[in-house]
This record gives sequence, structure tokens and C-alpha cells, in this order.
Amino acid sequence: MGTVVVIGSSNTDLVSSAERLPRAGETVRGDAFATYPGGKGANQAVAARRASANVRFVGATGDDDFGKARRQELRDEGIDVTYLAEHQGATSGVAQIIVDAHGENQIVVVPGANDLVDPASVIKALESDCSVISMVLEISFDAVLAALNAEHSATKVVNAAPFDSRIMAHLDQVDVLICNESEAAAVLGRPFDVRDETATKRAAEDLIGHGPTAAIITIGAGGAVVAHADGTQLIRAPKAKVVDTTGAGDCFCGVFAAWLASGASLREATAAGVVAGSLSVSIAGAQPSMPNRAAIESAMSDQPLA
Ligand code: RIB
Repeated sequence: MGTVVVIGSSNTDLVSSAERLPRAGETVRGDAFATYPGGKGANQAVAARRASANVRFVGATGDDDFGKARRQELRDEGIDVTYLAEHQGATSGVAQIIVDAHGENQIVVVPGANDLVDPASVIKALESDCSVISMVLEISFDAVLAALNAEHSATKVVNAAPFDSRIMAHLDQVDVLICNESEAAAVLGRPFDVRDETATKRAAEDLIGHGPTAAIITIGAGGAVVAHADGTQLIRAPKAKVVDTTGAGDCFCGVFAAWLASGASLREATAAGVVAGSLSVSIAGAQPSMPNRAAIESAMSDQPLA
């Protein structure tokens, strides 16, 4: 198994479930509340680890109870947290999430210590061997830049989530860019409709025009489109019972990175990410929903790559 370095955020997700999401200024009655480990980076790290990759996580928490609990959980997963810094007096990242009856969500993130992820920790973490470096934009941009600027033979994967316009000047330093519909539209500066296969394939190809070697657009229940030197393909997702879509994109990215690190092609890694994402939506919470490698391989054998 290869090694993946994930550079990203760790949050505590405070999740309320309600029949529907509130409109601006409206109060709706919820029916359940739960606290889960989350954060786009930590979610990816857990997904990659459960998919059998060796994982080093670079991030930051505060010295509060949330941060200590998140660190211990990552350690319990078998993730190397040497470069997960603890900042005295800072608050750990928190996400307030509302999930509706269809599993759709709304998220407000207060990054706290995630904004303090240190470029020096990134550089240190990259001194040891790894084959994939996976980044999200929910942390200090300087940390992302340190990874992009590092002289390293590993494949550099950027999940442009949440979109940050500062990434635009660095897309030619990215090997694989992963976006959802809104992030891809932000990079392209134009909307497109993911229900239109031709338009989505063109959008993925146009993303490459902005600099990355390959581009992937995740389209939820529709699967993902991958554009690379050998062409552009739509990888369809298997049908899933949707309970909670929170973290499905992070699951895709973590499993994609794990598969890539174990020598899979871009297309095979995309297929694994799509299948894993569809498994994750049937379980509530971000990190609790990340499937293990056996479950992913079993679901993939039910849906061979065309
Ligand atoms: O992508 C889902 C994640 O976004 C949640 O776990 C939340 O913490 C926010 O970072």
C-alpha cells in the first residue's frame, strides 16, 4: 500500500436533522441532533486509511476538548498525526450542519485553528516518502501553497473545496483537480448543468485548460466525470439509499487518493471513489460513513468498470 499525505481541515460537526432546510430568517423544528468528527481534510484522511492507505495528516486544532477528541480518533484509525499541530488558546474547527429528509445539507464552518495550519509542518511532513499529496482549501492558503511549491515526485491532488479564488494562480502546479459542480463553475467562470453529460465532459476538459494535468467533476448520485490525457469518461454511481450526503465528496477524494497510491490508474481510482461515495451516503455523519476497502471492493465487483 502506498502512502497518502492529506493536508486539510479537522472539524467537529454539530448536526441537526430536520424535514427541510430553513429559508433565510426562518426557524424550522428539527428532529435529531448528533456530534460527529468531520472536516474535509480529516474526512479524506479517514476514507484513505479505511481504504488501506498509509496516511499522514497535516492540520491544526485548538487545545480544547473538541480538538483533543478529533486527534485521538484519527490516531485510533491508524493515521499518523505527528503533523497535526495543537495551538494553545485557539478554538478547533466547528461545522454547524443541517441535514434534510432527503439527505441534502447546509453547512456553516468556523475554521478556527484550521486557519493556522503551518507551511513548515507541510514541508516537514513531505520529507518522508509518499506517493500522493491530497489537499483541501478549508485551511490556511499558505499551507496549500507550501505543498504545491514542494519539489516532490508525488501526485499532487487538489480538492477545490470550499472554492478559494487564490487557487486559480496555481492550477498549473496541480496534477489532479477535483471539483463538484459549483466549484468547477467557479474555476471556469461559467455555470453548466451536471445533468447534461456532454456539458459536464466539456467542463472537465475546460478545467484542464486552466492548468491541471487531469480534472474530475463529482456529480453526486450521477457519479463523476474524469478528463485526462487518455480521454474523458463518465463513471456512473451505483444506486444508493440516501440518509446523509455529508462527507460524500471527501470520501470520494480519500478513496481516490488511496487507490492512486496503490498504483491504480486515474480511471480505476475514480471508479473506486464513486463507489465509495455511494456507500457513504447511506450512513449518517461524515467520518462514521467512510467505508472500508473490503466493502468498496465488494461493491465494485457488483459494478465492473465498462
Ligand atoms: O465535506 C463535509 C465537511 O465539510 C463536514 O465534515 C464539515 O466539517 C465541513 O468541513
